[in-house]
Parts: sequence; C-alpha cells; structure tokens
Amino acid sequence: MRIAFLDSGIGGITVLREAMNRLPEENFIYYADTAHVPYGTKPREVVRQSLFQAVRELHAENIKALVIACNTATSIAVGALRSEFPFPIIGMEPAVKPAVERNLPQRKRVLVLATPLTLKESKFHDLVAKVDGETIVDTLPLPELVAYCERMEFRDRIIQPFLREKLRPYPLEQYGSIVLGCTHFPYYREHLRRIVPAHVELIDGGPGTVNRLQYILDTHGIRGGGCGHVRFMSSKRVPEETERLRQAMQLLQSLEPPELTTG
Ligand code: DGL
Repeated sequence: MRIAFLDSGIGGITVLREAMNRLPEENFIYYADTAHVPYGTKPREVVRQSLFQAVRELHAENIKALVIACNTATSIAVGALRSEFPFPIIGMEPAVKPAVERNLPQRKRVLVLATPLTLKESKFHDLVAKVDGETIVDTLPLPELVAYCERMEFRDRIIQPFLREKLRPYPLEQYGSIVLGCTHFPYYREHLRRIVPAHVELIDGGPGTVNRLQYILDTHGIRGGGCGHVRFMSSKRVPEETERLRQAMQLLQSLEPPELTTG
C-alpha cells in the first residue's frame, strides 16, 4: 500500500522529496489537484469541496496514509477529513512555533510567508495567539509566488525583482527567520537566499512533517513494503500534467537541501 501526498499543484513535491529521502522503503502517490489550483485565493467552501473530491479518489486507491502537503488545505479541512476517512492523515501548518522559540531570546522578528487563505483562517490566528505573546510575528501573503511556481517560472530576472518589491516594506535586519508557510515556496529558497541577509533563517515545514509521518507509520505498524516508487496523479487527467509533476521533482532534486529543519 502507498502513502499519498496531496497538494493543489506542484508545491507538495517539496515535502514528498523529503519523504523519499528519509523513507526509501515506501511507495508513494503524488496527487496534484491542478484542475482547481490555486487554493489560496479561493473561498474556503470551494476549496473544501475540491479537497474532499481528491481525497475520495485517493481512498479508492487503497492508500495506507495521507499527507496533506499543503498548509492552506490543512488549515481549512484537516479535522473534517480525519473524521470522514479511515486512514491516518498528516497535515501541515506554518512553522511559527519553532521560529518564535528560536527568535525570542535574540529579540528578532519572524516573517511568515503563506497564501491569503492560510493567513485568514482561524487555525493560523489561534496558533499565533498561542505562541506569539511578544508579538514578534508578521505575515505576508504571496499568492503570486504560487502562480509563478505553477507556470514553472524560476528565472532570476522575473523572480528577484518580484521578491525584492514584496519584501521592501520589511526591515529584514530586524528579522531572524522567514517561515515558508506554503509548500510551493521552497522552490524559491535560493532566490530568497540571495535577497535576505545571511543571518535570516529560511524555515520550511517539510522535514517536520516527515518526522510526523514517520512517527505515525511506526505507531500504526504500517511502515515499509515498498521501494521508493512514485505514481503521479492529477485531477486534470492529461499526460502532460504528469510529465510536469515529474519535471518539478527533477528540478527540486537539483536544488540545495533545506538549511533548517523543524520538529
Ligand atoms: N501549496 C499550498 C500551501 O501550502 C497552496 C498553494 C495554493 O494552491 O494556493 O498552502
């Protein structure tokens, strides 16, 4: 049986890549809901319906666990999905807690980059209210970066000016961490690295999600039985889409690994 990874598009491959490195004895399905991408700028009910449809399809594939490799989808539906489906479901949230813990002692600020929907949802506000007593967390919605990513736009001359413009209002020397709170954003880690001061850490929730997946597989006694095979699926159901997902995976494999992992 396979472990499924689900995202609106190619973003969740940043999490799948981490899982493939760490769990070579598993087989995977990667499901991109590209008929409905992006999620982050749509009303929550619309996204919820797309998600349930996608997870029903994955259920029919007889999967042993599901990773919702999407912060937006997790924030609006992880609870409802868990009560509907029988397999373990692992979600993700922006790594605000570890970022705040690391930055409080040095009196540095934290900037969370995510989709508008993630930043609007009560799950995110509750998280910030719980961990950010000193109000050091700022947020910046970046839906355009999801759109660039889905178009496979990674050229410096397009991305660098865009990111510079978006980050201009933030005095980055006062920040200690930038949280990549959307699974599409690690594709732009190197672009960001060239813009932000060297002391600013870029925190990606992928490694922590895979720790959680590993723990769930172990506690359910469902680990292993595969050989690292990935099957790509897309709600667009055209072969070109599967090919694009494969290309995105290759691109990621050529990038630097994450510089900071979160538990
Ligand atoms: N990759 C997703 C996330 O982590 C959502 C991007 C989108 O579809 O807007 O939030």
